[in-house]
Amino acid sequence: MNKTGTRKIETERLILRRFVIEDADDMFNGWCNDPEVSKYLTWPPHGSVEVTKSLLNAWIPEYEKGDYFNWVMELKETGKIIGNISVVRVREDIGEALIGYCMTREYWGNGYMPEALKAVIDYLFDVADMNRVCATHDVNNPKSGRVMQKAGMKYEGTLRQSGLNMQGICDSVCYSVIRSDREKQPEIS
Ligand SMILES: CC(C)(COP(=O)(O)OP(=O)(O)OC[C@H]1O[C@@H](n2cnc3c(N)ncnc32)[C@H](O)[C@@H]1OP(=O)(O)O)[C@@H](O)C(=O)NCCC(=O)NCCS
Repeated sequence: MNKTGTRKIETERLILRRFVIEDADDMFNGWCNDPEVSKYLTWPPHGSVEVTKSLLNAWIPEYEKGDYFNWVMELKETGKIIGNISVVRVREDIGEALIGYCMTREYWGNGYMPEALKAVIDYLFDVADMNRVCATHDVNNPKSGRVMQKAGMKYEGTLRQSGLNMQGICDSVCYSVIRSDREKQPEIS
């Protein structure tokens, strides 16, 4: 892999950029304090903007590292921030990135996350030189699976009781793209 870290990415409707501390209020009011958003995630709603600020204070220095990939999604049209997409685990030995994402509820259903995920997958292969990009979701959260499908990821299987989130232990549905998929099929639809 190339240790490129988090660089700005532009898509048709979005700018994916690094978080800054000034994002705390919008992040808290948008997605960090909504139990519907965190239902299938590993963390509870923040409860107070101070929690969001301390998270950002932990994240921002990590941007110095070349293997840290964490973007805030900003809507080009309004400049509003609407969600987060990041690499939650890197395995450098096999060039693997595991992706996670979440978004403010009022923006769901507009295809924003598939648009962001496609762009992040391109970045991780073309700029960061990964060999495998993967993501998993709780079997009871199929809308996240739709995002993975729309971004061109392939279903790999379901691992029984291998996930843990705010609902407890869950079956985990696994998707991936590997470099050779892209060589065979450069235009992912
Ligand atoms: C999963 C998530 C990122 C989807 O992002 P998105 O930009 O809304 O994605 P899409 O617009 O492509 O919609 C995906 C699916 O969500 C469902 N959906 C769409 N609008 C919805 C709405 N208003 N409310 C609930 N579900 C909706 C649909 O099933 C849709 O699939 P379809 O296009 O085949 O009908 C978003 O729902 C979210 O942030 N959820 C909470 C966090 C989360 O679960 N993260 C993933 C953990 S693995």
